[in-house]
Amino acid sequence: MTRLRLGILISGRGSNMQRLLDASSEPDFPAKPVIVLSNRIDAEGLETAKAHGVEGMAVPHANFETREAFEHAVDTALQAHGVEIIALAGFMRVLTPWFVRRWQSRMINIHPSLLPKYPGLKTHARAIEAGDAEAGCSVHWVTEGVDEGGVIEQARVPVKAGDTPETLADRVLLAEHELYPRALAKACRIISERPAR
Ligand code: GAR
Repeated sequence: MTRLRLGILISGRGSNMQRLLDASSEPDFPAKPVIVLSNRIDAEGLETAKAHGVEGMAVPHANFETREAFEHAVDTALQAHGVEIIALAGFMRVLTPWFVRRWQSRMINIHPSLLPKYPGLKTHARAIEAGDAEAGCSVHWVTEGVDEGGVIEQARVPVKAGDTPETLADRVLLAEHELYPRALAKACRIISERPAR
């Protein structure tokens, strides 16, 4: 079985990243994490990656004059590690069309809503405000429009009476942890089964 070399991009806590690393420790999981990159030097997830024996690297966006210069540095690190698929896991920077095109059909993201509902931020508050009976999370291919790419897999949770954005976020996060490894495995299979270019 082909195991695709996985790069994970984070900005903070990294609980989804941790679930991907846990899943990847199974020998038949179709991805092998080779690097975790953070745009924030103080991201908790960098330590978690190191504890799992995966290289964690900070590329602080604030050190670069332009978005493109930051992304070139990220891209160089990914290429140097032979990355074949990128999973964004709580990576909170919007990517430029240059980077998105470079990794087209090889980059996925997890988003805390049932896309196409609620792209962008404050997804849980918006679901509660709208009176939705259910919320959830989506894993999708990354395209130039923010949170607009094709959905790979979704998971649903109920919105309960009295939910706050925080209680709903906790319930959705548990669903994310279950969803992301499954959706990453599916994306790897899709990539591996594509005819070689
Ligand atoms: C997750 O809920 C993820 O869906 C969300 O940030 C959180 C990161 O948590 N991502 C976005 O909102 C992307 N637009 P984590 O660092 O513990 O995985």
